[in-house]
Amino acid sequence: MKNILSMSQLSNQDVQNFINSALEFKNGRTSDIGKNKFAVNMFFENSTRTKSSFQVAEMKLGMQQIVFDAGKSSTKKGESLYDTCRTLESVGANLAVIRHSQDEYYQELLNKNFNIPLINAGDGAGQHPSQSLLDLMTIQEHFHRLDGLKVAIIGDLSHSRVAHSDAEILTQLGSQVYFGGLQAWYTSEFQAIGPHKTVDELCKEMDVVMLLRVQHERLSQEENAEFSKEKYFEQYGLDMRRVNLMKENAMIMHPAPVNRGAEIADEVVECDKSYIFKQMVNGTFIRMAMIEAVLKGE
Ligand code: CP
Repeated sequence: MKNILSMSQLSNQDVQNFINSALEFKNGRTSDIGKNKFAVNMFFENSTRTKSSFQVAEMKLGMQQIVFDAGKSSTKKGESLYDTCRTLESVGANLAVIRHSQDEYYQELLNKNFNIPLINAGDGAGQHPSQSLLDLMTIQEHFHRLDGLKVAIIGDLSHSRVAHSDAEILTQLGSQVYFGGLQAWYTSEFQAIGPHKTVDELCKEMDVVMLLRVQHERLSQEENAEFSKEKYFEQYGLDMRRVNLMKENAMIMHPAPVNRGAEIADEVVECDKSYIFKQMVNGTFIRMAMIEAVLKGE
């Protein structure tokens, strides 16, 4: 596999291979497959987890990094994404990890002459494959399977690349996906996948309750002006009353960043049922597995 761009390119066996490889890394396997190779992490949207865990994963695999700061790059002088990528390829990058606000930004690169392996670290409201794979790894570690589970995704669905990626792949793997949050965000692509329920109903019935933050940066001025954090939390937020409705073995997940007091109560973030920081631990290992796969061309 030269590029990892979308969960829709992965078979169930591919998913399992990534998880198995990530578990091996978690259990101590090492690799120097990246020795004498350079990675460039090109984040045109903000990131804490994804960027830093790709950095750690690259270093653990022996790669060196070309420092790239989108805000200080020549894109600010009008250079296109394609020319920027070709430049970094020309100066010696062997791997590009890119996050960009434009859905499927990578199509132009692939249609032209960009030739080094590319991992999509998030495209607009499109896909977030590394987040999705680490979510699957975390679910599998807990339930020892990825089929036959009931998973709720609650929140800002339509703007979320995590919702798009996870809903699609969990369905492909044989789990049932349900949705919660504002009806306006439960758009046709989600209606085609699973039903919409109240947060109380979802908490009672689900094996996994996955929360999403409200992506204010993707809302219109009008939508942001109308938004009330308190009202949202009351109707859709996960507080301890709702956690206590959940099944004993159920998991709380969130790709983070979390907005405490908006979609999740402060005391829920690190409660017994929360896997939020365990997801981040797995993020480094799944990204090692992804980088190894593209460097091998597997
Ligand atoms: N989950 C996630 O993508 O977090 P960052 O935006 O901090 O990378």
